[in-house]
Amino acid sequence: MEQILILDFGSQYTQLIARRLRGIGVYCEILPYHSSVEEILKRAPKGLILSGGPSSVYDKKAPKPDPAIFNLGVPALGICYGMQLMAHELGGKVLKAKKREYGLGRLKIKPGSKLLAGLPAEFKVWLSHGDEVKALPPGFALKAGTKEIVAGAMENTGRNLYAVQFHPEVHHTEHGAEILSNFARKICGCVHKWSPVSFLDGALEDIKKTTAGAEVICALSGGVDSSVAAVMVHRAVGKRLHCIFVDTGLLRHGDRERMKDIFARKFGFNLKIADSSKLFLSRLAGVSDPEKKRKIIGHTFIEIFEREAKKIKNARFLVQGTLYPDVIESVSVKGPSAVIKSHHNVGGLPEKMNLKLIEPLRYFFKDEVRALGRGLKIPEAILMQHPFPGPGLAIRVLGAVTPERLEILREADRIMRAEIEAAGWYGKIWQAFCVLLPIKTVGVMGDERSYENVLALRCVESVDGMTADWSKMPHELLRSISSRIISEVRGVNRVVYDITSKPPATIEWE
Ligand code: XMP
Repeated sequence: MEQILILDFGSQYTQLIARRLRGIGVYCEILPYHSSVEEILKRAPKGLILSGGPSSVYDKKAPKPDPAIFNLGVPALGICYGMQLMAHELGGKVLKAKKREYGLGRLKIKPGSKLLAGLPAEFKVWLSHGDEVKALPPGFALKAGTKEIVAGAMENTGRNLYAVQFHPEVHHTEHGAEILSNFARKICGCVHKWSPVSFLDGALEDIKKTTAGAEVICALSGGVDSSVAAVMVHRAVGKRLHCIFVDTGLLRHGDRERMKDIFARKFGFNLKIADSSKLFLSRLAGVSDPEKKRKIIGHTFIEIFEREAKKIKNARFLVQGTLYPDVIESVSVKGPSAVIKSHHNVGGLPEKMNLKLIEPLRYFFKDEVRALGRGLKIPEAILMQHPFPGPGLAIRVLGAVTPERLEILREADRIMRAEIEAAGWYGKIWQAFCVLLPIKTVGVMGDERSYENVLALRCVESVDGMTADWSKMPHELLRSISSRIISEVRGVNRVVYDITSKPPATIEWE
């Protein structure tokens, strides 16, 4: 397949480069910076991009690629650290800075650049760097600069090497997509117009071949990823796919019915609904520590799933909705990060049950998964839904979970979602939910004193859930949510709005 390879030197923007390229119809993949020349050539890339990164070329442990990559005859584009590396390795000079600087600069272009062809003479670019190139390597020409940075862009057209000090992949950079397109289309000669859906037929054929003659199992949660993965595999293998949906009793109003409606009725899946609410609730009784709750739910989920999966004879494969960012993370140069919350998944099961993994989404970003889902006629209500955590409402009933408290939360959540949808705000926010607090406050209802629960509303805007800000929802909408909850949900007499960003808070409260 026609593709560009991005070598990752650890920049927070590496995935953005890939998303921007794919967004303009150029297929690309990310490889670790130390990938060997053989590994690179095996994929016959049309071009290479060297990403940015936090290091200085002078660091003792500075990440360096195989030096032969500049002699392959494959066009290369260095971005930020990628530019400094190119300069340093090819005989130029890099000036070490005392501190990192970031912000917008005005780029002035010199005539005759191939990379910056067809762009205005001056435009805004996003810079985030410490070091900068002070002397170009032999054979390179200076093609742009800003007031602060002389070497904003350089190129050696004879060797097909290009570099920019700014970040074309970042949205703040004007004409960023055109720069990447110039590189991919005009310099590397990519001609195909790739889209996630264009990959579908080949992928279905692969799944069919790999799983021939065996049964395939899937833990279907109804979220975006597992739904798209399951529908894809179902397209390929039909009734050989067995989906298991574990009803933990910690679901929202309507979740279970929706699973039946869409996957059993509309798509005709083999769908087993394992009703295990009693077991989950009995194991959670009296437990209020968030990590303990998460662990209990995770273990119980795996136990039930394993029990159901064992009933399927000749099962050899397990479908997992792993996305590309997880695949990149697993081979990335960054170290492990601290566990803030233990997320639950079915990891570990495949070895235990001797199942092989089928991961039809492992080369896709979330927005591409949605595009695939549209191609597969999956309803928008599934594709555009807010994330819902595996431990479900248990981590939104703070403190001990009881059927009564779950019901209060479920009703409030139903009302909140209905109001947000009616106001046209559902698609504008990343996630909106209620949290039932373990405290009571005094209120007055009619002429009576009340002493009831406090409910918090949590609505956030985010791009990937890693950072988030609280949503500036209209006060009118907050008012209608609050007044409907107070008048319709028994057991709540006060509603508060969470105005904390992540960090320092997390999105969920537990
Ligand atoms: P936090 O609370 O860590 O959440 O800021 C970030 C995003 O992850 C979701 N979340 C989970 N998703 N299993 C999941 O599948 C989990 O255990 C889990 N915990 C949190 C959360 O809803 C938010 O979208």
